[in-house]
Amino acid sequence: MWKMRMAQVIIFFSLIFLHLIVSPICAMPLAPALYVFGDSLMDSGNNNFMPTFAKANYLPYGVDFPKGSTGRFTNGKTVADFIAEYLGLPYSSPYISFKGPRSLTGINYASGSCGILPESGSMLKLYGLGARKLIMFEIGPIGCIPSVSRKHLHKGDCIEETNQMVTYFNERLPPMLKNLTSSLPGSTFVLGRSNSLGYDAIKNPSKYGLTDASNPCCTTWANGTSGCIPLSKPCLNPSKHIFWDAFHLTEAVYSVIASGCLNNRSVCTPVSIQELVKM
Ligand SMILES: *[C@@H]1O[C@H](CO)[C@@H](O)[C@H](O)[C@H]1NC(C)=O
Ligand SMILES: *[C@@H]1O[C@H](CO)[C@@H](O)[C@H](O)[C@H]1NC(C)=O
Ligand SMILES: *[C@@H]1O[C@H](CO)[C@@H](O)[C@H](O)[C@H]1NC(C)=O
Repeated sequence: MWKMRMAQVIIFFSLIFLHLIVSPICAMPLAPALYVFGDSLMDSGNNNFMPTFAKANYLPYGVDFPKGSTGRFTNGKTVADFIAEYLGLPYSSPYISFKGPRSLTGINYASGSCGILPESGSMLKLYGLGARKLIMFEIGPIGCIPSVSRKHLHKGDCIEETNQMVTYFNERLPPMLKNLTSSLPGSTFVLGRSNSLGYDAIKNPSKYGLTDASNPCCTTWANGTSGCIPLSKPCLNPSKHIFWDAFHLTEAVYSVIASGCLNNRSVCTPVSIQELVKM
């Protein structure tokens, strides 16, 4: 969920495993592995195996994903999936997965409705384990999600007081990430400015080919303020909606965020992923 106490960190591990995974038949991936941390915006199925009510392992979740419902809290791919595709890696598989051996090309530790440890502490730990290229995404404009905006009788308008609280958190990220990059040799910490991009998409959906910036695409519990009702029919055109359910975004929006971060150094700053992989 697009919640205040949560943030997402994507990790590209350093080059130690590169020679193990490159085979002459496959195109060489642009990074050896993709490790994903976060909440339901990045979860690829961990919650399926956890004792939690935050689950998305039923249709219409996954209705546009090649494998159907997987535990992703959206209709299709997440930002992490789009980044994996760009890197030439398989989608990072859920950590809590009973299938197959542990992957060398990345693991997804994200879990819906989780929180974060004190953020710079977590990142020092990851650096200690060998992570060198890290992207941290801002928390999104939570005051705009239907579960928040509708409960306050704003009829889908953003609640700016809530957005302001998120901004207090986000404003502290750039100096912290700069500090980490300059004090940890060989590291690059990148900020993903998903808040400003997401807010702009909500305010100006047509700029991004979207038409509906207030209604969840799926039919949700609690009159548009909660998760999708199992096996309910989603809207006809998810690719025109910002919101998939009352907390989460559609694949269409995740695609906008991912391609911004891949190519545009105003979105992922100071370097885009395209530049990051060449460093
Ligand atoms: C940067 O790091 C130094 C030393 O670790 C610390 O004293 C300072 O408060 C940090 N600044 C920010 C903005 O995080
Ligand atoms: C359900 O939500 C809609 C749109 O926000 C609102 O107009 C309607 O009154 C709500 N219905 C109930 C029963 O609360
Ligand atoms: C890059 O992102 C910024 C901020 O979202 C936007 O204003 C700009 O138009 C984008 N540039 C391109 C080439 O898409």
